[in-house]
Amino acid sequence: MGEQQRTVALIGPGRAGTTIALGLMDQGWTVVGVGGRAPDAPSTATAAACLASRPALVSEVARGAALVLVATPDRAIEQVLLTAEPAIEPGALVVHLAGSRGLDVFAPLLERRTGVRVGALHPLQSFPSATIGLERLPGAWAAVAGDAAVAEIARSLGLRPFELADADRGRYHAAAVIASNHLVALLGQVERLAATCSVPFEAFAPLAIASVQNAFTLGPAEALTGPVARGDLATVEQHLRDLDPAERDAYRALAREAARLTGRRDTGLDRLLGDLRQQSGPSAE
Ligand SMILES: NC(=O)c1ccc[n+]([C@@H]2O[C@H](COP(=O)([O-])OP(=O)(O)OC[C@H]3O[C@@H](n4cnc5c(N)ncnc54)[C@H](OP(=O)(O)O)[C@@H]3O)[C@@H](O)[C@H]2O)c1
Repeated sequence: MGEQQRTVALIGPGRAGTTIALGLMDQGWTVVGVGGRAPDAPSTATAAACLASRPALVSEVARGAALVLVATPDRAIEQVLLTAEPAIEPGALVVHLAGSRGLDVFAPLLERRTGVRVGALHPLQSFPSATIGLERLPGAWAAVAGDAAVAEIARSLGLRPFELADADRGRYHAAAVIASNHLVALLGQVERLAATCSVPFEAFAPLAIASVQNAFTLGPAEALTGPVARGDLATVEQHLRDLDPAERDAYRALAREAARLTGRRDTGLDRLLGDLRQQSGPSAE
């Protein structure tokens, strides 16, 4: 994209949208407008100030923008696109950041407009705030779809783009949720159990971080250690006995996943963990 075309409008002035807009500003883009729930909503005003821009109505924000970035909650994208449509410039590129939505979300917009280019850019990274997000952009991977300029924009932000087909998006996004949210949920269980034995939660940080690193350098199966990997049923049994009943389901489910990684079948362990795979017969192995 040429220098004269480096104008972007942001719709959805939250964590991800502000992060990407800040990254684009670092690359010489100008943010021509920021649209949120309302021009005077605190998030819209804050993001507009941070992006050296101005708050605008969603119906007007796209005017003069070569790139329209849609970073609302996923469920709002379709409606927001229709509201923004009258002001979208001919030839503009409209991109959303949702991991769960593909190019299908643009269908109603493209029914009304020709000559608008569309794409999806999902950074495989967590942005708890725009400031932290900006630091996390370089080196993160990003799923891209649609217009070829999307991958170009991703690379300019320091991201590592890869193409993702709409048909694969559901499973891709589930994997992203597991890699991020479920890992965090699991650490919530660690925090609760640590509290019951008066051990600081932080004490588990080096172990957890090393385990994640091992999984990515060695592969999950090779990285697996612990009682399930060793086939130590007595220890697993003791854990289940000592755990609060409310903690047992998650423990059992993940111990079953660990057993699956070992590639071995152990009927004793299956019984202990209530392994549902037994019900699917030998083909499930
Ligand atoms: N955060 C991440 O780590 C991350 C990473 C990759 C991709 N994404 C994607 O980025 C998108 C946004 O996520 P987020 O985490 O940035 O969410 P967020 O922080 O909640 O931001 C969403 C923003 O959209 C605004 N909004 C809500 N409904 C709207 C509407 N109808 N019209 C205009 N603006 C509206 C919200 O306004 P209010 O502030 O007034 O509620 C908020 O500013 C999602 O598609 C998500 O999947 C997020």
